[in-house]
Formats: sequence, structure tokens, C-alpha cells
Amino acid sequence: MTLSQSLRKLIEVNAPLWAGEAEIIRTYWTSPVRTRETDKLWLKRQCWKEYAGLGDSEGETMGMVSDLEVKLKRMVPRLDIDLDRHDLYELLEKVFVEYRHYTLFADIYDTMLDPGESKLNANKLEPWPEEVALASRRVTVKKTNPKLGWRATDFTEGGYCTMYSEGAKLKGRPGLDGQIGRACQRVYDDEYGHMMHGIVGIDDAGLAKSDWDELTQLTLEQLRLRILMRNAQFNHPLSKERISDILAGKIEPIKFDFAKAESYLEESHAAAAE
Ligand SMILES: [Fe+2]
Repeated sequence: MTLSQSLRKLIEVNAPLWAGEAEIIRTYWTSPVRTRETDKLWLKRQCWKEYAGLGDSEGETMGMVSDLEVKLKRMVPRLDIDLDRHDLYELLEKVFVEYRHYTLFADIYDTMLDPGESKLNANKLEPWPEEVALASRRVTVKKTNPKLGWRATDFTEGGYCTMYSEGAKLKGRPGLDGQIGRACQRVYDDEYGHMMHGIVGIDDAGLAKSDWDELTQLTLEQLRLRILMRNAQFNHPLSKERISDILAGKIEPIKFDFAKAESYLEESHAAAAE
């Protein structure tokens, strides 16, 4: 079972931007911009991403857990009537998994505190401007383009898991770096399959050439916004010049694992056929 030529092309045009995100994270670990304060800041910001998602909660506070509270009230009475049980399963699983990621990073943050410093408080987390730009664009595209909007978000979500794969390389080091490495490995193990399903699933949508072209523009736009979001999250380890080069595609693309993607494709078709 192989990926379509259109999907291969979509992956190939996006691969340089995935490499850009990886370079930001890899550079940060040994960068002179890295301090205890910037470590606390990126962890806190990552907690926002895991806890709040796109920040479009219907609940009283930001975040997917608060949003779930509202959604469950609406959904539970409709279960097995006009609500598919698998749709509820998917929602619960998504919130559970993201919440687990939140706890992994929040726990590291709390271990870094000096006496007297306040612990992390989920409901007081806030996004940063570049994260707002990315999330609000995703929310808009999902609303204005119901056919391709969510596919663009699914394709770009996690950014080929480069933050987690680069973070996982710290595993085995002493102290904070080792903790970050272990947390990133756990998140990577959760997210990799999820991300691959988001990518290979596009082939089942029966898209026309014009849809593929539009999806290419939407995904490139979101991955460019991700580059700015990550560089700001990690206190700008890459210079403005290097970021411009990456955005212009002057970077060795990431090596996409096509064999693994094809095995995910087979797996999802086998599950659908059951
Ligand atoms: Fe996550």
C-alpha cells in the first residue's frame, strides 16, 4: 500500500519547514540564549499548548478540560441516539492524552522552583503572540474552509513531532535535561502515530487537484507560523536571518519516514475494513 503522488508532493514541500522546527529546538539546548528563566518560560508555554490546545474553550476557563465539561453535558444525553459512541471516545482520548502531556511538562516546571516561587497553575497559563497567530489562523481556517481546514491542522499538528524527537535526544543526561528527555520521549510515543494518521488519512478524502493545491498553501502557511511560534517559545535561539532562510526553504529537508507512513496507512485501512 503506497501513498499517492499528491500526498508525497505535499510532504516533500513541507519537509524543509519541519527541518526548521527541529533546528530551533536542537539549537536551543546548547544555545547562549538558554537560561533557567528561559527553560521555565518554554515549559510554561508548552503547558499552555498541551492544556489549552487552540484556546477556543467553551468552558469557564481556557483549556480542553474545561471545554470537555461543557461538551459532555451536551453529548452524554445523546449517546447512542444521534451521537456515535466512537466520536465521544475520540474526544475523551484526545483530552486525556493532551492532559497527560500537560502534567509531564508541568511537573518538570514545578521541580525547577526555588523556595517561595509559585507552582504552575493551569488556569493562569497564557499564550504568547506567535502562538496566538498560529492558533487563531487555524481556528479561522477550520471555520471558513470546512472541507480542508481541519485537514491542514491535522497535517501540521505536532510539526512531525520534531520538538519531541529533538527533546528525546536529551534522555540519559543528568538533571533537568534528562527529565526533559524522558517527558519528550513519552509525548513522542503518544503523538507519532496520531500525527501519521493525520497525514496518511488525507489520501482517503478523494481530493481534486485544486484541493491539493489549496491544502499545500494552507499547510505551508501553518508550518511557517509554527517556525515563528517555536523560535519565540524558546527565546529566539535562531537569528532573524536564519529564520528568513528557513522560511525561504534554504535548509536540508527532514527525512520523512515513508515506510512507516505506509505501514500506518495499511493499519488504518485494516481497521476500517474490520
Ligand atoms: Fe500533546
